[in-house]
Amino acid sequence: MTHTASLTSTWQSPSNLAIVKYWGKKNIQEPVNPSVSFSLSQAFTRTSVNLTPKEGGGFSFKLDQQPVPKFENKIETFFKAARPRLPIIENYYFDIESTNTFPHSTGIASSASAMSALAFCLADLQQQVDGKKDLDITEVSSLARIGSGSASRSVYGSWSLWGRMSELPESSDIYAIPVPADIAPVFRNLHDDILIVSSQDKPVSSTQGHKLMDNHPYREGRISQARQNTLTLLKHLSSGSFEGFAEIAESEALSLHGLMMSSTPPYTLLLPNTLSIIEKIKDFRNRKDIPVTFTMDAGPNIHLLYPDEFSKEIAEWEEKEIKPFCANGRIIRDQVGRGPKKGIATKN
Ligand code: DP6
Repeated sequence: MTHTASLTSTWQSPSNLAIVKYWGKKNIQEPVNPSVSFSLSQAFTRTSVNLTPKEGGGFSFKLDQQPVPKFENKIETFFKAARPRLPIIENYYFDIESTNTFPHSTGIASSASAMSALAFCLADLQQQVDGKKDLDITEVSSLARIGSGSASRSVYGSWSLWGRMSELPESSDIYAIPVPADIAPVFRNLHDDILIVSSQDKPVSSTQGHKLMDNHPYREGRISQARQNTLTLLKHLSSGSFEGFAEIAESEALSLHGLMMSSTPPYTLLLPNTLSIIEKIKDFRNRKDIPVTFTMDAGPNIHLLYPDEFSKEIAEWEEKEIKPFCANGRIIRDQVGRGPKKGIATKN
């Protein structure tokens, strides 16, 4: 049955930052290894989808009121893949309007927030058309995954895990779950300052990088490293060991970039200032005995991670010693967030 009136759904959903990295795919956007991330508090996408009956479907997409052909292609692919689960795609036309609270190409994964916000809207609209009420969050995560792997983890607040681990019976390759452990207070309020080394477009996209894992010489070693790091990270998240956490965060960040450097063809996204900042962080940590660590995604920018109580000392140090290494002195401050919300709110 097709509704005659139009229906609307609005959601805001956060980006997330992985500590154990998803790198490499199998089947339809399933990960070759488990990953663990937290949702950000300030960096999110707000999306409104308006649906009107139309035989054969179709959509229009605008980001900040402008069409973006690159994203239209991604949404097209997503709609095709999601069609078997969302019968509305056949019979309705979708007007999609999005805004991001964070700038482009800053190392904040916009596909995670964008695809999870879109998955919430579409799942919600399917429910409205079917006359059903409660959203199945694992179904939303699974839909978001089809749009972008890391988006599967953005459907929750705080910490999420995606990827099947035999040690964790609730875990799945198809959808993410909240991290199945109590999270110590230090990690519930963790800060993430994004040190922008460059905001230029990356020469090799994450999607291309994932592909290079298919025949990577270190593939099997990487899979077992990520599994081990996941189990160890979960222990540290529960016990509150910042030192243990820092070891995993840095091992994962540098391993990810090591995998890029050892791909065929090899490449690197690191820039000289990326390495200078890493040296600065280690030096500051040794001199001041302040718990601070870092990670990186598939790009040159550094995510500086530290407990809430050290914000003041760290801000002073960043101002003096780190800003000169950042493009236009740019630092974006964020923190662990509470997850997606229906409707529009000004703050997460
Ligand atoms: C390095 O989720 O952006 O950020 O599934 O092709 O959309 P697609 O890739 P994407 O990959 C993210 C890679 C990463 C690590 C991570 O977020 O786990």
